[in-house]
Amino acid sequence: MIVAIDGPAGAGKSTVARAVAQALGIGYLDTGAMYRALTLVALRTGVPTGDGPALAELAREHPVHLENGPAGVRVIIRGDDVTTAIREADVTGAVSEVAAHPDVRHEMVARQRQVMERGDWVCDGRDIGSVVFPGAEVKVFLTASVDERARRRHAELVARGEVVDLRAIRDDVERRDHADSSRAASPLVVADGATVVDTTGIGIDAVVARIAGMAREVTA
Ligand code: DC
Repeated sequence: MIVAIDGPAGAGKSTVARAVAQALGIGYLDTGAMYRALTLVALRTGVPTGDGPALAELAREHPVHLENGPAGVRVIIRGDDVTTAIREADVTGAVSEVAAHPDVRHEMVARQRQVMERGDWVCDGRDIGSVVFPGAEVKVFLTASVDERARRRHAELVARGEVVDLRAIRDDVERRDHADSSRAASPLVVADGATVVDTTGIGIDAVVARIAGMAREVTA
């Protein structure tokens, strides 16, 4: 079974997807982490974030390993743990451009399908229900208002000890929404057959219970 959770930045996808996977006792694949990891490698090696073919080649040379553990997903590239580095501002600022290249998406989608070929998975991203696995048994489009998503991101960064301006975060959320929704290759859309779940003002537990319930209905 595949549970596809798509939606805009800051909707709570990774928190919800990880908890749903745990509730169902199945694997969790964070596809955003794959695009972020490639962006980090590009920044570190100096491959231009505008060069799609070179980035796709870089992705082939630096396969990303995602390890599910008790503390969350660890992201490893060539033995190097980059879990924290891929969440930093330089990567967040450049990842939309990297993810917009068709060559890059082609490479990533192939890898995601390869991982999820076997077993049951909860997978979050932007194009899982529309492109990667249109046949997913459960498809959710998780969203929340821009203000709510900015507030959540702000709280997350403050909890990590970062000093950040809420307005700047709101601008960044809007900028990424626009970039992810307006790109030519696999833009963020509500997939055919997806259930839209608006999490504005709703606790994580209720959202997780609802999606896990949808999955249990499918397998019942
Ligand atoms: O969910 P996130 O913020 O970690 O995603 C990082 C970026 O990767 C974001 O700009 C959208 C992009 N992305 C994508 O294009 N397709 C996916 N399946 C997952 C993420």
